Amino acid sequence: MAGVYIHIPFCKAKCRYCDFTSYPGKIGFAEAYMACVLQEIKLRAAALQGKVFDTVYFGGGTPSVIDAKWIAGCMRRIRECLLLQDGAEVTIELNPGTVTADKIAAYKAAGVNRFSVGLQTAVDSQLSDLGRVHTAADFSECCRLLGKDNFNADVMIGLKDQTFADVEKTVRLAHGAGASHISLYALTPEDGTPMYTDYLNGELPDGDEVASVYERARGLLESLGYARYEVSNFAKPGFESRHNCNYWRRGEYIGFGVSASSFMNGRRFTNTRDLDEYMKCILSNRFPVVDDEAIGPEDAKFETVMLALRTSEGLDEAAYKRDFGSEFYDDFKAAIQKNIRFLERSERGRIRIKGEYLYVQNHILVDFLQ
Ligand SMILES: C[S@@+](CC[C@H](N)C(=O)[O-])C[C@H]1O[C@@H](n2cnc3c(N)ncnc32)[C@H](O)[C@@H]1O
Ligand code: SF4
Repeated sequence: MAGVYIHIPFCKAKCRYCDFTSYPGKIGFAEAYMACVLQEIKLRAAALQGKVFDTVYFGGGTPSVIDAKWIAGCMRRIRECLLLQDGAEVTIELNPGTVTADKIAAYKAAGVNRFSVGLQTAVDSQLSDLGRVHTAADFSECCRLLGKDNFNADVMIGLKDQTFADVEKTVRLAHGAGASHISLYALTPEDGTPMYTDYLNGELPDGDEVASVYERARGLLESLGYARYEVSNFAKPGFESRHNCNYWRRGEYIGFGVSASSFMNGRRFTNTRDLDEYMKCILSNRFPVVDDEAIGPEDAKFETVMLALRTSEGLDEAAYKRDFGSEFYDDFKAAIQKNIRFLERSERGRIRIKGEYLYVQNHILVDFLQ
């Protein structure tokens, strides 16, 4: 089973921490851009025959700023060109303040059955500090429009002047609004963003403070019935994101649109981040790929371990042996021995990082890279 990702790079304004490919002020290109995305799906169709897709994810940017007819158009084109399984999970990211009842009805008519709403924080002064163009009340209104639909809320920790009480208020707002899934991201001050200057000025909380907020937030989420299944992702039972689980299990996916990446037939490849270049390539029927790498068996092993150890389910040693013909323990003996106190065997016999260390997994995983 494979996933489809579609990147929609338009936003009302650029958030101060954001390093994603998004172009505020270029919304006028949306029609031309989306026509290119439809064309890209067609161009790729022949190479994807025989693959079965069971998830679609519209990410951004802000997919909800463009006319909903394009989401319907993409779904139609996907069904025409690719084998999309009945019951596929189809997710769209929504930004509060960009959604109407008509848009949601149009998404659902097109087959969307899961939503992901960018809340970030329930504290309006923090939203404005992040450069978000919505309020917490806009989030609640968005959730009211979603009613009983299945949705995730994105929450960020590590914000300037953010207390645990602020995080608790945020998580409770998402929970009270009916979120079946909550993603909890620690702010990464990306080089080149305005937030990076705040970081250099020492205005952001340090790593230990954020780790302590994360652990308390994890406790709160678990007490509210959201089980952690990946370091940043918590879900009510049965509401895990199938699209993301496919990434972590190193499943195949195809990305369409500017900057979209793909993993297909043992190769990882990425489209250009340049909007003009992307459209030029598609209009001349060329693939807009800038990086394309065949993943050899050694890299495949590392990827498998890195991805699996981010998850609460952990690494399936039998599957590892079946896929690579060698034992996980033999391949990573030194790293396993060095980190043995952080690892455990799950009830299902998989190797995983102990729950209390999952947040600091990077310090552990670095040993597996060597
Ligand atoms: C693909 S992004 C954009 C989704 C949507 N446009 C929005 O902003 O609400 C998905 C999520 O990643 C998180 N994110 C983006 N930049 C981040 C950063 N620098 N550090 C941590 N989390 C980040 C935010 O929670 C965001 O909602
Ligand atoms: S709305 Fe999302 S994608 Fe757009 S700038 Fe803000 S964080 Fe980035």
